[in-house]
Amino acid sequence: MPRVDPHSYFDSEQPRTRHLELDLAVDFDRQRVAGQATLVLERPSAGPLDLDTKGLVIASVRTDGGRPISYDLDGEEPILGSRMRLTLPAGTAKVVIAYETGADAIGLQWLGPAQTAGRRHPFMFSQFQPIHARTMIPCQDSPMARVTYDAAITVPEALTAVMSAGPVGEPVGSEAGMRTLRFAMPQAVPTYLIALAVGDLTSHDLSPRARVWAEPATVAAAAWEFAGVERMIVAAEEMFGPYEWDRYDMLVLPPSFPYGGMENPRLTFLTPTLLAGDRSLVDVVCHELAHSWTGNLVTNATMDHFWLNEGFTVWAERRILEALHGPEAAAVGWAIGRTALLESVQRFGADSPFTVLRTHLEGVDPDDVYSSVPYEKGALFVALLERTAGRAAFDAFIRAYIRKFHFTSVTTEQLMAFVEQQLPGVAARVGADEWLNKPGVPANAPVFRSASLEALTALGEGWPTGARPAAAQVASWSPSELLVYLQHLPRQLDAASCRWLDAELKLTDRGNYEILVEWLTIALGSDYEPVFGRARDVLLRVGRMKYLRPLFGAMGRHPRTRALAREIFAAAAPTYHTLSRRVVESVMEKYDG
Ligand code: BES
Ligand code: ZN
Repeated sequence: MPRVDPHSYFDSEQPRTRHLELDLAVDFDRQRVAGQATLVLERPSAGPLDLDTKGLVIASVRTDGGRPISYDLDGEEPILGSRMRLTLPAGTAKVVIAYETGADAIGLQWLGPAQTAGRRHPFMFSQFQPIHARTMIPCQDSPMARVTYDAAITVPEALTAVMSAGPVGEPVGSEAGMRTLRFAMPQAVPTYLIALAVGDLTSHDLSPRARVWAEPATVAAAAWEFAGVERMIVAAEEMFGPYEWDRYDMLVLPPSFPYGGMENPRLTFLTPTLLAGDRSLVDVVCHELAHSWTGNLVTNATMDHFWLNEGFTVWAERRILEALHGPEAAAVGWAIGRTALLESVQRFGADSPFTVLRTHLEGVDPDDVYSSVPYEKGALFVALLERTAGRAAFDAFIRAYIRKFHFTSVTTEQLMAFVEQQLPGVAARVGADEWLNKPGVPANAPVFRSASLEALTALGEGWPTGARPAAAQVASWSPSELLVYLQHLPRQLDAASCRWLDAELKLTDRGNYEILVEWLTIALGSDYEPVFGRARDVLLRVGRMKYLRPLFGAMGRHPRTRALAREIFAAAAPTYHTLSRRVVESVMEKYDG
């Protein structure tokens, strides 16, 4: 029985699901999704069919003709969940499973009205990558198994549902106080790209093929922030070929969303912390958009090849940035990425298996080892291939790669075979084996230099010897340049230094979360009391893991900030996504004292 994905019970020799029909009602009072999923098999089949489930309460399993199908639901494995083994009677073409979700489905977050911008209605959203679709849908939950899907989603009539799919028809009233919205996704996607959000949502058109969805209180700010998205789509198409997903819409979620963005096809999910008011954080949109090619068209076969999704996408994101804003801006992105990479390598240790690109994660929860390594080491490897092959040859290679593998899932080994075929000798010249299979960052990693970056780095590192930026200089920095400067300051400063920085750079009041969080990380690590209130406000609202990790980490340094961290976490934990809560717990476990 070839199980080919260490994080799924999917068996490549069994019948495959080709299409899913979801008919689900969203019950906010009970925090459950309930209804039925119909699995349409690629051909009439018989015998065993193993599905992934986690926490699901199964009511019945039948053929579409209503004949019961016998099944066994195994005990729950901590990472994989429960294998559900059906025994299909001969000629089964469709399997209809009636069920509801479990009490703490990690793929879903339920928010009370107080956690939304409007404060009047509840909200729910899904986050299925890497392996959480199985907490809402019984399915072959491996990226090697792609499906198209249709859905009928029943929600309270004051609310709207959106999905990673196109809308079908108008909402229709169903039972009292509810209405049903229909969706269709005619393109085959891995199950981690199925997505649903329900809340008080409205939308604003940005171009004929792009609009932004958000709560009414947020939609105007979101429309302004992301107004340039069509230009990004055009730039990406010039590099990677036509945009294949029909629409590129975006959804701005409430601030507890645990990621910066998630590339759900046709509907990127975004954190509201991107709404800086100056369009300075749209690189995240650029990244999620780039996944429309690298990730969504060409998909990692399993989480052991996750770097194929993220490394290529970070590289693509910076190429789009370069096309739109020039090589200096791209170099700043690479510098910020390098800082994140070094932090991740340091966290795991330079010889940790979690710092290789092609991983072996059997028995490991992918959420526990999420880091910048697949992103930034992966992107550096792609950039090195690009430099070695030459840009023109590499651009032709990327287009050929996307054309050849679109709508399929690929392994590192398949990629490298294709590299050898298209760009003979390049893999050996860059030392691909070390990049892919050895820990740490190889010595031949590309470095992206610019005069401004060197000046910013020197200025930050020169703090202890008295280097200070002049006011006019600070005023000339872009937000990303200011971030690079802050990243190169010492992690611990005396109170006078903190006071100087805050007075000159106006840091505590910033609405740009990248800058604000970098500053708060320094200030909390320095036990600088004037920022405690601001830190508390941020941490009680924002659940983005990228920010929780450094902030709670920095608070571990001093007794007073450790007490602050514990107080904040006690109040915030019930509002955090399970993933966010787990990250903070893992950081606080390492506090000494
Ligand atoms: N696909 C990821 C988010 C993800 C990865 C969720 C793995 C669950 C498991 C998304 O494209 C992403 O990388 N988001 C980044 C933004 C980015 C600019 C690097 C994030 O959320 O910070
Ligand atoms: Zn990504």
